[in-house]
Amino acid sequence: MIEFKNVEVSFKYKGQTVKAVDNVSFEIPEGSVFGIVGGSGAGKSTLLRTINGLQSVSGGSVISDGKDVAKLKGSALREYRKNVGMIFQHFNLAESRTVYRNIAFTLESAGWKKEDIDKRVTELLEFVNLSDKRDTYPGKLSGGQKQRVAIARALANNTKILLCDEPTSALDAETTASVLELLKKVNSELNVTIVIITHELDVVKNICDRVAVMNSGKLEELGDVYQVFTAPESEFTEQLISHTNDFTIPEYITDDLDGEIIRLTYQGRKAKNPVLSETAREYNVNYNILHGKIEYIGEKPLGILYVNIIGDKDSREAAIKALESKVERLEVVANA
Ligand SMILES: Nc1ncnc2c1ncn2[C@@H]1O[C@H](COP(=O)(O)OP(=O)(O)O)[C@@H](O)[C@H]1O
Ligand SMILES: [Mg+2]
Repeated sequence: MIEFKNVEVSFKYKGQTVKAVDNVSFEIPEGSVFGIVGGSGAGKSTLLRTINGLQSVSGGSVISDGKDVAKLKGSALREYRKNVGMIFQHFNLAESRTVYRNIAFTLESAGWKKEDIDKRVTELLEFVNLSDKRDTYPGKLSGGQKQRVAIARALANNTKILLCDEPTSALDAETTASVLELLKKVNSELNVTIVIITHELDVVKNICDRVAVMNSGKLEELGDVYQVFTAPESEFTEQLISHTNDFTIPEYITDDLDGEIIRLTYQGRKAKNPVLSETAREYNVNYNILHGKIEYIGEKPLGILYVNIIGDKDSREAAIKALESKVERLEVVANA
């Protein structure tokens, strides 16, 4: 487990003090895939670097696996750091070394014997499915392949924690999916705790169990991913996630609107059609479905539906009230 206890990180910049991380406390469970999201400059990268001690804290403490990271010195610090790997948006591979040498170098630095290194690198290349690229230079690899090499390198020392700073931000959608699949495998087969910073909320929905939302150095929201995406507590989070679910209502509809347009969020397993047809019958209203989709958070479906509700005012009000109790969330997004 990684525990942030009232963590503060301040930087002096042009005579001013910037609090990059401001009194942040939360826990990352062992074996989880944990997402950290928030706008640019929110303090995500700074917080992530406090985990391996590359960034020292100005206040509070980071307790990793029971150890206070700030108190580790010398060989204890080196041992701890071996357990923590890191990958980056731009891969940070050594261009002048082959794939094999990029990974082997980490193990040489850690004092491994030559034959052990050979065995381990071969095993890692198999794990990331790049055995055939062993003697290739990074310049000849695609972005996704480079990130696979970086993952192999980060895991080389039998790492227990993998820190990922925007690992898919330089990749296209298809490559992103394959890198995320690999990260899932790292988590499930090797039981590595993964901490992943991203501005892509789809990445969080796809692989994270829990998520922390940061804003201006502070922890804005924390929770189970499904919970945060279906029922965010803070205004900031709501804004952040509404962008991913945005649907622009065509002007010809809003210009000549009858009744209200409501946005329903429901857990996909709860059938939506009975809810709509029942309330339509009971309250004598009509629904015009404008847009709908089901997306998956982890394995759980989340439905979003935009509906124009038509009828007399009292009936519409009664129908909205009834619907509200049957779905996760109901928002009136436009009215005549
Ligand atoms: N080494 C540094 N020196 C001065 N200011 C820094 C340094 N690193 C980060 N900052 C500042 O701290 C804040 C948080 O940065 P960062 O952690 O990189 O945010 P994020 O990763 O969320 O985009 C920003 O205002 C940034 O300019
Ligand atoms: Mg960053």
